Amino acid sequence: MKLEDGNKVEVVDSLVISDIARHKSATSCLQREDVEDGFYICDLGDVVQKHMKWERIFPSIEPFYAIKCNPSDVLLRTMIAMGTGFDCASKAEIGQMLRLGASPDRIIFANPCKQSSHIRYARDNGVKLMVFDNEIELHKIRKFYPDARLVLRTQTDDSASVCQFSMKFGAHPDSCLKLVDTAKELGLDLVGVSFHVGSGCQDANAYVKALRLARTIFDYGISIGFDMTLLDIGGGFPGTESFTVSVEEIALVVNQTVNELFHSQNFENLRVIAEPGRYYAASAFTLCTNVIAKRRIALEKQPDQENMPVKEAILKAISPSALVEPSFMYFLNDGLYGSFNCLFYDHAEVKPRLLKNRAKDAAEYTSSIWGPTCDGLDKIIDNCSLPELETGDWVVWKDMGAYTMAAGSAFNGFKTSTVYYTISSENLKLLDDYCSNGIPSVCFVYCDAKDPLAKKTFGCSPLSPLQQELKSATIL
Ligand SMILES: Cc1ncc(COP(=O)(O)O)c(C=O)c1O
Repeated sequence: MKLEDGNKVEVVDSLVISDIARHKSATSCLQREDVEDGFYICDLGDVVQKHMKWERIFPSIEPFYAIKCNPSDVLLRTMIAMGTGFDCASKAEIGQMLRLGASPDRIIFANPCKQSSHIRYARDNGVKLMVFDNEIELHKIRKFYPDARLVLRTQTDDSASVCQFSMKFGAHPDSCLKLVDTAKELGLDLVGVSFHVGSGCQDANAYVKALRLARTIFDYGISIGFDMTLLDIGGGFPGTESFTVSVEEIALVVNQTVNELFHSQNFENLRVIAEPGRYYAASAFTLCTNVIAKRRIALEKQPDQENMPVKEAILKAISPSALVEPSFMYFLNDGLYGSFNCLFYDHAEVKPRLLKNRAKDAAEYTSSIWGPTCDGLDKIIDNCSLPELETGDWVVWKDMGAYTMAAGSAFNGFKTSTVYYTISSENLKLLDDYCSNGIPSVCFVYCDAKDPLAKKTFGCSPLSPLQQELKSATIL
């Protein structure tokens, strides 16, 4: 079984994710040992489109992708090729980016509270830009990396965000100027200000408040001799349609405010960066899970169940009488300890979709959906209405790229799902505009050897295309 990312991207014309999912689930697919194993499909074209959109709506703000969100090698290689920077939070994340070929000056070490050895690692590998939010951290940086270029992270009003960080990170507005003084006293190089309005931001105004504070700190820093040139507006940008505020609305407010507060007349050498995570990763990944087991249970308690002896009640629950409408428990091969950790850590809401078409009038039953581990906590959906599923059926989950596989564990021996990468030929052409020399170590397998894009099939045969297989596959 292939557990880590493959580096092959299959080029498919008129890419329809559900067709690919049907194909992958219907065949004894090359990379999976067991045909029922869950898998992801990553549409790299979605990432290319997101990047183009970013450049359109934030023309003056450089994205430094927060790799914690989804550190897939293929995704990161694509981002390097498109010219983004990277927000890393640890030695391992920095190491991964350097191994993949990112330049150290395209990395910001954006964790305000760092292990000393990680600071030394950044120093030894030329990653100069790093974030701090307190005095003790400043002393640590002075000891281990006095030449670092420092960015002061401020606290924000993140009350309107799905995931909040201000209880843990960011200097309180009242202590920011004192920290600027301390940096000066210690002879350190303060270059800018950063903030994070919280992940899944639902209020564009949160950026405005944070930008105002940033301006105050800039003014003070400049007044005592710092060359303040970096403004980092963090993450928080939505990656799917499910948020109440759109990324376009945020862009409008942010661009306008940056222009007002940090006008180029006064801030000639200003560089503005952001640390988007979910914006880039969320919608590119679709997760396909298999129903590995099911239980039929009584829908409602029997009237006398309250006083029923325990043994009898259990028997009744797992073997309901024919008179009671059944409800079903479905067990999938990915769960809370795997990709669905997003329910717990990311406050995500997920919606099951069935791969097999059902008759329009198929009866629906009260159902619950569970992960594969032996823990009762491992529940994906408590209560939903579904047609009756059979063991072996596929359940598909869209928008599963952000904070899913990044934090999945192999608890109970259930490993994270394999990823298949794909891109449409139209999007490959767009990607080609960013990196005409290809992406090192990523192999695009295209079906037509005569096509000019076949030049991107580094080291791989352009034959055996998914597209050809799809043509002959039975689509349900
Ligand atoms: C410092 C930092 N920057 C950026 C991000 C990415 O945030 P988002 O996915 O909301 O864009 C995070 C997320 O935890 C973060 O902690």
